[in-house]
Amino acid sequence: MGRLDGKVALVTGAASNPGLGYSTALRLAEEGAKLVVTDIDEAGAAACATAIEDAGGQAISLRQDVIVEDDWAATMAAADDAFGGMDVVVNNAGIAVLVPIEQMTLEQWNRQIEVNLTSVFLGCKYAIAAMKARGGSIINLSSVAGLVGMQTCVAYGAAKGGVRIMSKSIAMEAAQYNIRCNSVHPGVIWTNMQAQATGANDPASLETGPLRIPLQRAGEPLDIANCILYLASDESNYVTGAEFVVDAGMTAQ
Ligand SMILES: NC(=O)c1ccc[n+]([C@@H]2O[C@H](COP(=O)([O-])OP(=O)(O)OC[C@H]3O[C@@H](n4cnc5c(N)ncnc54)[C@H](O)[C@@H]3O)[C@@H](O)[C@H]2O)c1
Repeated sequence: MGRLDGKVALVTGAASNPGLGYSTALRLAEEGAKLVVTDIDEAGAAACATAIEDAGGQAISLRQDVIVEDDWAATMAAADDAFGGMDVVVNNAGIAVLVPIEQMTLEQWNRQIEVNLTSVFLGCKYAIAAMKARGGSIINLSSVAGLVGMQTCVAYGAAKGGVRIMSKSIAMEAAQYNIRCNSVHPGVIWTNMQAQATGANDPASLETGPLRIPLQRAGEPLDIANCILYLASDESNYVTGAEFVVDAGMTAQ
């Protein structure tokens, strides 16, 4: 028996490999969920769906830009057609443009707020509409940068801090429908975003000394996927409005 048998789950930003959405989609499928995987990278999303099917799971893939409202309506309609509804929505798609404030353009600021925060508002709005009649779980990807101040994270951190508190407000509004909403706060996880943001070639070349990361290593996407799996499953039935920090102790110092 899988921990998500009978559930339908949507994961946005599922194309990037290594990436948190890709790994989460595979992990949720491994536990029995039927997956809707989306991304602006249509070929990457299709490759994620193929990997799920190759492993014996069920998935459909769609091109979806998470900042376009019509794309949300189309994604939920496609999920309904394919699998008859929705139980879990993972708002994972995001970007990181890490620039000191003095060099950051208004365009870079606006883009990060749009892709990292406004998209989550849309995702939650459409998730509630889709899950209102049967209950469900919304999982929003924030960051350690949404909890503490970090250099070059003015816009990224503002968006992720917004995701954190918005998730709590949504938890309050959606509780009446038995829809739960929680945020996940990864630390330094080795993905394409991390490689791009740091310019590192491999996880070993990241700065992981004890003052930055007490466990002294970068995390793997599966470390985050397993937390999301818990929040997606009925094991977390009494958990809403909470924040899950998966950061090897970074923000405990
Ligand atoms: N990797 C980390 O260390 C880390 C730490 C904290 C938080 N996060 C958050 O976790 C999430 C996933 O991060 P990741 O490291 O896997 O990133 P990634 O760059 O590897 O993957 C992100 C995916 O989102 C997609 N995407 C970007 N803009 C989109 C849009 N407008 N519409 C649809 N898809 C879009 C990209 O195409 C990509 O496939 C992000 O929200 C990120 O901010 C990551």
